[in-house]
Amino acid sequence: MAGIVAEHASFDRALNKIATISVVDLTRGLRHNTAPCVTQGHSRASHETFAKVTEVSISKAKKELNWAELGFQYRQTDFRFSATYSDGAWSAGELLASPLIAVHEGAPALHYAQQCFEGMKAQTAPDGRVLLFRPELNSERMNQTAERLLMPQVPLELFLRGVEEAVRANYAWIPPYGSGASLYIRPMLIGVGENLGLRPARTFEFRVFVSPVGPYYKSAGLAVISLAVSEFDRAAPAGTGAFKAGANYAGGLLATRHAQALGANEALYLDSKTRTYIDEAGSANIVVAMKGNRLVSPKSNAILPSVTRRSVMTLAEEQMKMQVENRPIDLRAELPEFEEVAACGTAAVLSPVGRIWVDGEWHAFYGNGEKVGPVMQKLYDLLVGIQRGELADVHGWTREVSMD
Ligand code: PLP
Ligand code: COI
Repeated sequence: MAGIVAEHASFDRALNKIATISVVDLTRGLRHNTAPCVTQGHSRASHETFAKVTEVSISKAKKELNWAELGFQYRQTDFRFSATYSDGAWSAGELLASPLIAVHEGAPALHYAQQCFEGMKAQTAPDGRVLLFRPELNSERMNQTAERLLMPQVPLELFLRGVEEAVRANYAWIPPYGSGASLYIRPMLIGVGENLGLRPARTFEFRVFVSPVGPYYKSAGLAVISLAVSEFDRAAPAGTGAFKAGANYAGGLLATRHAQALGANEALYLDSKTRTYIDEAGSANIVVAMKGNRLVSPKSNAILPSVTRRSVMTLAEEQMKMQVENRPIDLRAELPEFEEVAACGTAAVLSPVGRIWVDGEWHAFYGNGEKVGPVMQKLYDLLVGIQRGELADVHGWTREVSMD
């Protein structure tokens, strides 16, 4: 990475009082100076920590990572995008060097979970183009969540610019074509202004960071996973289940742990009112291939409207001539109809589910729960082929990120 010019702003930056104290040219300095100092378990913010990047020259050289070995873990990249909302308006946004955020101790994001996030991926196509997948749907969903949680709308233009600037500035971290890895993109919106009573924040940060990742579950490629029906509820019928609010996930941590204790990868939630119908997994929607060439996905107002699931349903109908149904699925009553099951989402991609733990016993699907069935294999190939720019994108789902 050559020639980064940075302005070092003081700790007050995140409190909207930008105090620029120096302008330096630091090819090596940024990376070394911006690492947080950890003293007895506490992060100590330094002036360097909140370096504001004013000019980025993109390195065309890739990082020397073992891309094929990456798991789904946070890996710090060089830049993140940040814009601030205050007095009813968004700042233009800027790239920052530090992964740390300074928030007020009274921030509603910390106390009352007034925050939300999105999950997206960028992939390298065979011709080297860098592709996003249906990013306008993530923008739409973030704004739906923002409305539900009384946070400001992030305009589509700002959302896309933040995502694209973060991806472009971290070109060196975008996994190359054929590596099997992708660049995970995490847009987030958090209430940062000080507060104490239960009311919305007045100041918000929209931030986008990126991290190269491998598969969410197990090893590379299509690995069969298992789910265990949870004794906990994920979302109330008229709650926040349909929104990508962080609070939904905190409540699921224990459910995931219980599922893992049973040997499953993830919890599967039923509707919280009747505990009858499939809602979704902890980090993904569910699709079921049923007898009679049908692909069925649960209809529920308590689940996240997954971009991946909506895309897969379209592909199944148009390219595989399956009958697609979006309706409540009575898990116990319809189990005998299940041929193949999969969990789908940005992180999960399309993960075939071999077994589900229901009422104290395992129910296995295709190949005794150990093999990938033909329907999920085909859907995976179609979906990933489009995302990676290998197959014709007839719907215009991909969006190229210009690297200029
Ligand atoms: N359901 C939950 C709870 C999720 O966290 C996710 C991941 O984003 C999904 C479903 C899948 O949504 P998408 O396909 O838009 O990533
Ligand atoms: C995603 O798939 O992008 C998500 O946000 C799920 C998360 C639990 C990793």
